[in-house]
Amino acid sequence: MHTKVQVYEVGPRDGFQNLKQYLPLEEKLKIIDDLVASGVKHLQLTSFVSPKAIPQMKDAMEVAKTCVQKYPDVDFLALVPNLFGAKMAWDCGIKKISYVVSLSESHNKANINRTHEESLAELKKIVEAYPDLHICLDLATTFGCPFEGKKDAQEVVAFLKDYVDLGVKEVNLCDTIGVANPKQVREIISAVQTAYPSVALQVHIHDTRNMGMVNTLAAIECGVDSIQSTLGGLGGCPFAPGASGNLATEDVVYMLNDMGYDTGIDFDRLLTASKREKTVIPDGVFSGHHMNIQTPLPKDKA
Ligand code: COA
Ligand code: ZN
Repeated sequence: MHTKVQVYEVGPRDGFQNLKQYLPLEEKLKIIDDLVASGVKHLQLTSFVSPKAIPQMKDAMEVAKTCVQKYPDVDFLALVPNLFGAKMAWDCGIKKISYVVSLSESHNKANINRTHEESLAELKKIVEAYPDLHICLDLATTFGCPFEGKKDAQEVVAFLKDYVDLGVKEVNLCDTIGVANPKQVREIISAVQTAYPSVALQVHIHDTRNMGMVNTLAAIECGVDSIQSTLGGLGGCPFAPGASGNLATEDVVYMLNDMGYDTGIDFDRLLTASKREKTVIPDGVFSGHHMNIQTPLPKDKA
């Protein structure tokens, strides 16, 4: 059993993208500073997408350039839907992208206006143009789609084949609308691990139905050592009706640290950061639980 869990903080992308009011660049950067100060080592900074689709991400280049320069030791990534976005990311010094495609074609059309065939063809162009760019495939709607419902594990395996053949070595299984359950998580992960043993897996679970923690833990207990979450549980998808907050980073870090997993993240500092974030974003939708706990825990006796 692995004892280290890499927590990928994706709030500056998945959380901020849903805010109706533009969150000023300086506020975004302060929240990122807080996260890094808490020990976060893997951070999805932004997305290079059309500002017409996601106005909140219009400052993607400034966010990326500033952070890459300021924190050379942090593993930064950015979400990218096309070659245009990959170029922008690369030009800002981003070395790792989350290339987003949805398991369900109808969500892929709603989200990025592409068929499955077009999304695959676009990734081929990116791989050719930027062979040194590390690609993590973000497979949205893996566990269920607002338009097409659920698909079985073998459909996930079949879908991934073209991407694995193209050289993708890391896949992030995303529960975009928070409909997974632990049994389904185990089945899909086990099927993908069996079919593609050399592919590294991550999970990205929304907490819509209070299943974020159990589903993420199920994945970890299947051997997945990289998970995604957002500070405060801020999150959602503007193109998936019903999507709400992500699993909150401080909640999952509390659980993992207490279970003896090494996350490298300081829970108390993270909690201070998430409480501060809540005051900066008063209209945000937060799914985090620790933010609302007033009583501090008694410290263990020495
Ligand atoms: N970054 C910034 N601008 C981009 C871009 C990118 N990655 N890709 C395209 N654009 C711009 C184009 O320059 C064009 O601008 P113009 O209208 O001023 O000429 C416009 O967006 C449309 O380009 P086109 O290639 O025709 O895209 P589209 O209309 O088919 O939309 C996407 C496709 C992928 C660009 C758009 O659907 C998108 O950005 N989706 C992101 C969805 C998302 O982030 N969802 C949540 C995360 S999962
Ligand atoms: Zn998400």
